[in-house]
Amino acid sequence: MSSFTVLDHPLAGDLLTRLRDKDTGPADYRSLTRRLGRLLVIEATRDLPTRPREVDTPLEPFRGTELATGLVAIPVLRAGLGLLDAVVDLYPDAVVGYLGMERDEDTHEPRDYYAKLPPLQGRRALVVDPMLATGGSGSAAVRYVKEAGGRDIAFVCVVAAPEGVARMQAEHPDVPVIAAALDRQLNEHAYIVPGLGDFGDRLYGTL
Ligand code: PRP
Ligand code: URA
Repeated sequence: MSSFTVLDHPLAGDLLTRLRDKDTGPADYRSLTRRLGRLLVIEATRDLPTRPREVDTPLEPFRGTELATGLVAIPVLRAGLGLLDAVVDLYPDAVVGYLGMERDEDTHEPRDYYAKLPPLQGRRALVVDPMLATGGSGSAAVRYVKEAGGRDIAFVCVVAAPEGVARMQAEHPDVPVIAAALDRQLNEHAYIVPGLGDFGDRLYGTL
């Protein structure tokens, strides 16, 4: 079974509480998402491989390390775009792919409407989508990345529901999931509760 990690950091709790607050508007939403995203990305890349690198400090030679794997950031449109800057802030050399997924309001099934992925071989793919609710969109996104050749994949979200985590672990047992919170349940509209509402609408002010 894949690992499921919930961030354990006071700053993550503070940022997420402000995202949950119904009075937080889009401008703050974007900057809070970007800041929380950085913490998530650090956690999701904790196990990136490194190789030795020799440098000279002003005083003496030093045997350090450098990253041995590049990153591909893959935001799931639309809401995943809110987490893209967090990846690029920390890994400016990351290449970027996009997957468009939209959840049907009645069936809650995802529909894919856009895909543009760079070469994935030899790179860690970070699929970023803030909400893991039923897990339909996240699982479909990861399946797409695997079919495109992705072998080293992590899924980064802000809030996960138990149903979404279970689905990811059943359908992609090789893909770790990193979240800022595991919430209680889904409601009858497949929204996460307590949750934070519709992430994309709050991020872009389209409520
Ligand atoms: C949201 C969210 C996920 C999906 C999660 O996207 O960003 O992609 O719902 O739900 P699921 O786990 O049940 O599939 P939405 O379809 O609202 O599209 P948007 O990002 O364009 O707002
Ligand atoms: N998508 C959202 O934006 N929020 C939810 O609670 C579930 C799916």
